[in-house]
Amino acid sequence: MHEAAHPGRIVAYPAQKPLPRPHGPLNASWVTTRGRAARKSPQTSTREPVIQEPVTSEAASGAVGAEDSEPEATRRAAGVTESSRANRGWWDRNADEYQTEHGTFLGDDRFVWCPEGLNEVEAELLGPPEDLKGKDVLEIGAGAAQCSRWLTAQGARPVALDLSHRQLQHALRIGGSIPLVCADASVLPFADGSFDLACSAYGALPFVADPRLVLREVRRVLRPGGRFVFSVTHPLRWAFPDEPGPEGLSVSASYFDRTPYVEQDEEGLAVYVEHHRTLGDRVRDVVTSGFRLVDLVEPEWPDWNTSEWGGWSPLRGHLIPGTAIFVCERD
Ligand SMILES: C[S@@+](CC[C@H](N)C(=O)[O-])C[C@H]1O[C@@H](n2cnc3c(N)ncnc32)[C@H](O)[C@@H]1O
Repeated sequence: MHEAAHPGRIVAYPAQKPLPRPHGPLNASWVTTRGRAARKSPQTSTREPVIQEPVTSEAASGAVGAEDSEPEATRRAAGVTESSRANRGWWDRNADEYQTEHGTFLGDDRFVWCPEGLNEVEAELLGPPEDLKGKDVLEIGAGAAQCSRWLTAQGARPVALDLSHRQLQHALRIGGSIPLVCADASVLPFADGSFDLACSAYGALPFVADPRLVLREVRRVLRPGGRFVFSVTHPLRWAFPDEPGPEGLSVSASYFDRTPYVEQDEEGLAVYVEHHRTLGDRVRDVVTSGFRLVDLVEPEWPDWNTSEWGGWSPLRGHLIPGTAIFVCERD
């Protein structure tokens, strides 16, 4: 497993068969073949720890016209494939902004679970830090692999996986010797029983149409007794506007309405998708995928944290939960 993903290089695995492309290439920075960039760049390759600039705005946009007009926000059905494709494009387009906006809060080598700022050093959800030494850990939806860098410092052997090639380029930019894998969490490119632990800080699970596909895959690649800890937006937040101020404190939608939040372009092509599960749904997903739920952590907003992160703010954080962290173990 580790031989496949060399530090300093992003190894890509197609997550699904390519779709018909009515609008031409979806994303020129996507690596279509293992180790081979679809986009030709005369100066750089993914082996170099530099950020590659998009060749054309259209190619990087994920959909023609996405940069010309504001996407329409709606609620409608969105399946596994459409969600994956939309979110791959969205995170490729928005990775730079995400890292610029949140990079300082996250820290290059800290393990922050959520906008509340809960840190693995204090939470120990993966176990005592001293027990991490020598452990094979899969980080899912790793972004710039900040958590993996912290895990490396504890003596663990993390692999950082993300759907977005651009996010992983930020991992290269920050540096470190972490194997980077570009793939969809619903189809993990690892052999059964490859890892002792898996973790995910807001990676993949809020964005996939069928979280059980991810959970089953994680269970498969974990060794017996392995632990998977993942954080997601607290399901309660679905009922409120995603606003940090007082307007985000009044219920505006049904908590029970699972219809996905979709941003779509003029032609109705999804460019961003987020999926909702109630708390009961999440527990059921975990249990029916073969895990035991060991803990469900709802981090409280600490007084030291005065930062806003989108709809997460001190105002709302002191009143309603913003994050749910599921601690799961397989037999
Ligand atoms: C909110 S960011 C979190 C990134 C990182 N864990 C952090 O805390 O900064 C969500 C990440 O999940 C990734 N992602 C979304 N859907 C995914 C999927 N199906 N498989 C793998 N990664 C996915 C995105 O590309 C993005 O990097």
